[in-house]
Amino acid sequence: MSGLATNYQVCIAGTGSYLPDTVLTNEDLAKRVETSDEWIFSRTGIRERRIAAEGEFTSHMASKAARRALEQAGLAADDVQLIIVATITPDTLTPATACYVQQQLGASRAVAFDISAACSGFLYAMKISKRLIAAGAYENALIIGAEKLSAFVNWEDRTTCVLFGDGAGAAVLRRAEPDEGEILATEMGTDGNLTHLLNIPGGGSACPITSTNVGNHLATLAMQGKEVFKHAVNRMKEAAEMVIERAGLQPEDIACVIPHQANLRIIDAIADRLAVPNERVFVNLDKYGNTSAAAVAIALDEASRSGAFVRGDKIVLVVFGAGLTWAAAAVRW
Ligand code: UT7
Repeated sequence: MSGLATNYQVCIAGTGSYLPDTVLTNEDLAKRVETSDEWIFSRTGIRERRIAAEGEFTSHMASKAARRALEQAGLAADDVQLIIVATITPDTLTPATACYVQQQLGASRAVAFDISAACSGFLYAMKISKRLIAAGAYENALIIGAEKLSAFVNWEDRTTCVLFGDGAGAAVLRRAEPDEGEILATEMGTDGNLTHLLNIPGGGSACPITSTNVGNHLATLAMQGKEVFKHAVNRMKEAAEMVIERAGLQPEDIACVIPHQANLRIIDAIADRLAVPNERVFVNLDKYGNTSAAAVAIALDEASRSGAFVRGDKIVLVVFGAGLTWAAAAVRW
């Protein structure tokens, strides 16, 4: 035995995304709750969001995004070895949404499981699968962030219902040749002291679904927005700085920052603190709102397909969410 740990280079070989057709604008919401386009846009940067059709589940959106990523990567579903779905809005509490996705794709040889890290889930999945591929356990992985948040929003609560939307994003990671791209550094963190700031209190074993707590909206998202905001800026800055340093980058080396899409004011604050000009920070939350685990995955796909960066460019992804959780990745495309 050589005693040398295997450490293969891992690249992102393809990305894909899917957004449902139905558009819900700020004006539409102003007809349901006491709000306005002016308030929503000035406080968040959101103009509209997408809403899944009634029979359209998280797994369906995940599979559509995944097919696009597989197509770009030139990988057949049958050759996928690992599927990780990051979601807080699974089709069912069990089995995992990844199992439905495996079936829908016909990826019958893949091991499939979900992770629950809220908006940070896609980059948690990236770090986990990068490490598994680098260590030689798998040659490729399909990672997906997918959410049907419209099913878990209290549509009578204007402080949350204006923020969220549905969608899915996916990426294929695989062992790379030296002249290909590389995931250079990854970071993730958690603070379980702050679980109360953003949660869905009901529907789990602590508060099983009953007619009373459904009536009290306990099975929908609750958030202390101002508190979450402060932690988001600090943690995302720290996580991004960590991967930038570990990858040996300077702010001027970064072609594109792809942040979690929750609030334009958070994104601007991070760009400012990282000393990266706003034009090198990718934003699409005006169109989709906050799609939790899907947001950074959709943004990565749209940014790469729109030419926001090209092969060889260095990019930084950074996210934050319930848990509290946060994560970042530095990638040479
Ligand atoms: O994805 C996971 C991470 N999540 C986040 O990062 C979200 C972080 N937080 C935020 O983005 C912001 O805190 C929010 C957008 C959620 C809220 O913005 P804010 O500037 O912190 O507003 P606020 O909660 O302090 O509310 C200000 C006022 C309040 O009225 P009073 O008490 O000043 O009279 C709210 O009742 O705005 C009121 N308000 C609204 N007014 C019209 C709250 N929601 C609405 C609304 N329309 N939809």
